[in-house]
Amino acid sequence: MSEKPVCINDYEQQAKRILPKAVFDYFCSGADEQETLADNVAAFSRWRLYPRVLRDVSCMDLSVSILGQRVSMPICVAATAMQRMAHPDGETATVKACSSAGTGMMLSSWSTSSIEEVAEAAPDAVRWLQLYIYQDRQLTTTLVKKAEAAGYKGIFVTVDTPYLGRRRNDVRNRFQLPSHLRMANFETSDLAFSSKECYGEDSGLAVYVARAIDPSLKWEDIAWLKKITTLPVVVKGILRADDAREALKYGVDGILVSNHGARQLDGVPATIDILPEIVEAVGGKAEVFLDGGVRKGTDILKALALGAKAVFVGRPVLWGLACQGDKGVSEVLQLLREELSLAMALAGCRTVKEVDRSIVRKSVLPSRI
Ligand SMILES: Cc1cc2nc3c(=O)[nH]c(=O)nc-3n(C[C@H](O)[C@H](O)[C@H](O)COP(=O)(O)O)c2cc1C
Repeated sequence: MSEKPVCINDYEQQAKRILPKAVFDYFCSGADEQETLADNVAAFSRWRLYPRVLRDVSCMDLSVSILGQRVSMPICVAATAMQRMAHPDGETATVKACSSAGTGMMLSSWSTSSIEEVAEAAPDAVRWLQLYIYQDRQLTTTLVKKAEAAGYKGIFVTVDTPYLGRRRNDVRNRFQLPSHLRMANFETSDLAFSSKECYGEDSGLAVYVARAIDPSLKWEDIAWLKKITTLPVVVKGILRADDAREALKYGVDGILVSNHGARQLDGVPATIDILPEIVEAVGGKAEVFLDGGVRKGTDILKALALGAKAVFVGRPVLWGLACQGDKGVSEVLQLLREELSLAMALAGCRTVKEVDRSIVRKSVLPSRI
């Protein structure tokens, strides 16, 4: 019996022992040389915390509102595809854990449990749909309408994936879904990324994206999306202040500062390093969120101090899911909650509102990694 994990890295090590190699590789990989993958994590240690003292931190409140929904903490689950590869219960386990934790889950378009199944598993959970815009706009509209009908509270449209980033291990492994699984939101085997299809000698997912996802996406498509839905729209994958300002012109409700967990363009900055300039450009006109490399409470505190309304976590949830299904995801969310609560208390902040820009500064010291 292995020891109970005490940090996210422990969950990752356990998951690595449990998962088939090709699955673990798919989950953990970044693009190309994985420079940004390491930097997403390392960058947090380039920022230093400046705690306030003597502030009576005996009562803590971590709750925040996200797109009009109250959640118990500023830590939500990012969209990660094909979660039944991690555990047989897949996305339905994740949503149950989110529901128990009182926080929100962003469901991938490429989920192995359908939009409706996930809603049924936790009707009261705050759920958002991550949307890939397909070449087939009718199909894309259907996904949005399914989410609306099933009580999802927003659409996170991914804008950094005209093509799939080159993840070398997925090419080596000729990554495909195991034969018993399919992307559950699609009817036909080609759109469902079924192993019955032929993907040649490349990453199967890269071939799938090239065949189905629209690389001609442009800003007008955000206007189109806003028109077809009444739900709040968040653009996921913004890395520049000018793009953030452009997004505002199209009336988006939120901006998710994200480099897709370093899986798309390698060599882009760590998300925490560019968060301040995007927060400044947005100037409070939309909600700003961050994902990428968040692994501990102090990372979250730094992101909040630099202006993020909340953070999203991707891989840590997959590690929890692989270890113990919904119980594992609950443990991961609880661990991050406790770490954030402690970090906030030690920094003299009782509420998320009290976490301000003054408690964090860029370090003059070199980062650890
Ligand atoms: C295995 C895996 C699958 C992912 N699938 C999707 C997806 O389907 N759609 C999407 O927009 N982002 C996807 N992402 C990116 C995440 O939503 C998020 O941006 C990223 O994981 C955050 O970084 P972190 O894993 O370091 O927390 C995926 C990331 C991983 C690791």
